[in-house]
Amino acid sequence: MSTFQAPKGTYDLLPPVSATYLAVREAIAAPLRSSGYGYVETPGFENVELFARGVGESTDIVSKEMYAFETKGGDRLALRPEGTASVLRAALEASLHKAGNLPVKLWYSGSYYRYERPQKGRYRHFSQVGAEAIGAEDPALDAELIILADQAYRSLGLRNFRILLNSLGDRECRPVYREALQGFLRGLDLDEDTRRRIEINPLRVLDDKRKDVQAQLVGAPLLRDHLCEACKAYHQEVRELLTAAGVAFEDDERLVRGLDYYTRTTFEFVHDGLGAQSAVGGGGRYDGLSEMIGGPALPSVGWALGVDRTVLALEAEGVTLDVPAATDVFAVAVGEDAKRRLFGLVTQLRKAGVATDMAYGGKSMKAGMKAANRSGARYALVAGERDLADGVVQLKDMETGEQEPVALDAVVTTLRDRTA
Ligand code: HAM
Repeated sequence: MSTFQAPKGTYDLLPPVSATYLAVREAIAAPLRSSGYGYVETPGFENVELFARGVGESTDIVSKEMYAFETKGGDRLALRPEGTASVLRAALEASLHKAGNLPVKLWYSGSYYRYERPQKGRYRHFSQVGAEAIGAEDPALDAELIILADQAYRSLGLRNFRILLNSLGDRECRPVYREALQGFLRGLDLDEDTRRRIEINPLRVLDDKRKDVQAQLVGAPLLRDHLCEACKAYHQEVRELLTAAGVAFEDDERLVRGLDYYTRTTFEFVHDGLGAQSAVGGGGRYDGLSEMIGGPALPSVGWALGVDRTVLALEAEGVTLDVPAATDVFAVAVGEDAKRRLFGLVTQLRKAGVATDMAYGGKSMKAGMKAANRSGARYALVAGERDLADGVVQLKDMETGEQEPVALDAVVTTLRDRTA
């Protein structure tokens, strides 16, 4: 062990498990790519003000969990705690919304940082794959995104997840509800911190996990009963489109989410095998965010799925992904000359598109074959001085154990055909 360890709340992704993470990212990205979403990548840090205004000053994410710092040049930056504000900032900055083709559909994959209390499924560095559809108000778009996330999880073999769905209303009906809720909450017996929250962000109080608080919340006014006609109709259409697509969901009037930008549709994917950190993904509509960060009105919707928690969910369900071996061929040479000749062959095989590795470090035949075995490659290519004098190498099928000599000049075509 070295003097150093990964910082608290972080962990390293190492082979072979890291292959599962790549496969998860790929499985989430695949349905997005084939539904018109283009790849976007933004910096790992942004102006701190972007998150303060976008995600919300009163949220835990901004007020307690942000890695904010001042650069030597005096800029106030923050490691990104989430992706939506950055992606919208990037789209606005490049005027993608003016290209005349709305919605602008983007997907991303990357690292995010929150200074949270670490526990299983909750880390200070974690990774998300996300999607944002910017500049269109259309219930079919909300439904599309939920269906694509469902499809991604199912393609991975996950079954024990549920979709929680809610509407948070819009700028018409939410303020009315907010006031009604504040009136109710002010009458409760709550601590100082929570009382302050009533004034800043009363909806967040509904999300309080403490039992004594939850007990008092029975009977709180529900947003459902305050939605305006337009929001009701919009939400009903999203629900009907999901049902028609065969995607099951549960209405959850208490679902508020931890970010302030949401309007109308909000949803969370929860997995029942994960304990306290059960949300594997979440998202919703954010019709006002663009204006909040200085842009034009651009109603939008999106989600982000947590890669770390998705991997935990796979483990909880006992699903192992069929991750193919990294290489198809593993070469083992006995003797210096053979090593040089095989190294040349390995280079040729790689150029021909055959995934190949070889034994390094002057290994014995026995150690070399062990390495070949461990690599998971289907074929071993073995050569000593005598084989080379005969103009052949030995090709061993690691599955059947069969071994046969192959002429040196036929190795590349033979292996290319067999591994195609
Ligand atoms: P979020 O719900 O904050 O939403 O995060 C989405 C997912 O990221 C969570 O469901 C969880 O799986 C994962 N996640 C969040 N924090 C952690 C953590 N500390 N450790 C491990 N995993 C974590 C957003 O970030 C929004 N930007 C989603 C969105 C996109 N809404 C609209 N567009």
